[in-house]
Amino acid sequence: MLLLLLLQVLASCLWLGHGEVVTSLQNTCPQFFFNGIPPNANMAPQTPAWICQCYENQYHYATLYDTSLRIPVYSAYIYQPGRVHRNDSWLVEPQLVNPSFPGDMNSEKYVIRKLGASSFSLRNSQAVNKDYENAPGYHRGHLNPCSNNNNTISVAATFTLTNAVPQNQSLNTGKWRRYEVHTMRNMTKNCDITYVVAGAVPGNNYLANGRVNIPSYIWSSACCKLKNNNMKAWGVIAENNKNEVKELTLGELEGNLTHLYRRGSVSLFHSACPRN
Ligand SMILES: *[C@@H]1O[C@H](CO)[C@@H](O)[C@H](O)[C@H]1NC(C)=O
Ligand SMILES: *[C@@H]1O[C@H](CO)[C@@H](O)[C@H](O)[C@H]1NC(C)=O
Ligand SMILES: *[C@@H]1O[C@H](CO)[C@@H](O)[C@H](O)[C@H]1NC(C)=O
Ligand SMILES: *[C@@H]1O[C@H](CO)[C@@H](O)[C@H](O)[C@H]1NC(C)=O
Ligand SMILES: *[C@@H]1O[C@H](CO)[C@@H](O)[C@H](O)[C@H]1NC(C)=O
Repeated sequence: MLLLLLLQVLASCLWLGHGEVVTSLQNTCPQFFFNGIPPNANMAPQTPAWICQCYENQYHYATLYDTSLRIPVYSAYIYQPGRVHRNDSWLVEPQLVNPSFPGDMNSEKYVIRKLGASSFSLRNSQAVNKDYENAPGYHRGHLNPCSNNNNTISVAATFTLTNAVPQNQSLNTGKWRRYEVHTMRNMTKNCDITYVVAGAVPGNNYLANGRVNIPSYIWSSACCKLKNNNMKAWGVIAENNKNEVKELTLGELEGNLTHLYRRGSVSLFHSACPRN
């Protein structure tokens, strides 16, 4: 009983000083990565923030965020599809404003009125909802989508702007959604557990007067442990100005990302995930 309680405390993100913005995803929330290994450092931006996404005192997934471009590099999560009521209010990350703020994601209103942040310091630290107004043709595209989560709290936890990028509206509601909902269901048919890393390659255009980068590509990758204990992996990539999704092997996607990020060889998963 005591041990159970201790495990619960360790798993919760309100545990003494354990916030959302951390120094290492691998140390604080390794559970969202196959064998506890996050992608290697070759996609990391110059101004990174590592976020163990915390909501209602639980970790739900992990995000690497670029605080200059104000979009995530990737979000990593375990695939648990479901159909759950969605609450469309978008939250922000208080600890990007001030590391001493509470670890739970919360609304902009809460961060300003209850925590006392200035609206300048909030806007300076991350994207806010206003950045996505007057952005015709772009949605707040989830990297960890609500459709891949099966309970109310984890679905609500996907509605945070540190998990969102400006995504072509036709792609978001078209082929990308088809991939997230249908192709993922097909591909994971014999999987016991599926780990996903989904991300965005920065582009040359911005929303909101240069505040929020519009990615040139959106990509997703998965590695699953099959019921017979073999491993299976795959990837997809989409240009962010077309309604088209290309299906690739994991190795091909990593090759694409190595080429697109130009910082060295990209590895998305532990070496046990097959590349071909
Ligand atoms: C969510 O999905 C996981 C894994 O598929 C399953 O173990 C769990 O029971 C599901 N929870 C709900 C509420 O459906
Ligand atoms: C939706 O989210 C907002 C902000 O987190 C919250 O105040 C509200 O109660 C939620 N509504 C529902 C129906 O869950
Ligand atoms: C999923 O599989 C079914 C049957 O195997 C197939 O008809 C369908 O086109 C597939 N859908 C996707 C999105 O891959
Ligand atoms: C989004 O994609 C569609 C193609 O499906 C294209 O016609 C449209 O111009 C794109 N919008 C933007 C803002 O790039
Ligand atoms: C991604 O990789 C595939 C297969 O190697 C290749 O055909 C395609 O051109 C690459 N795309 C990009 C954007 O690098």
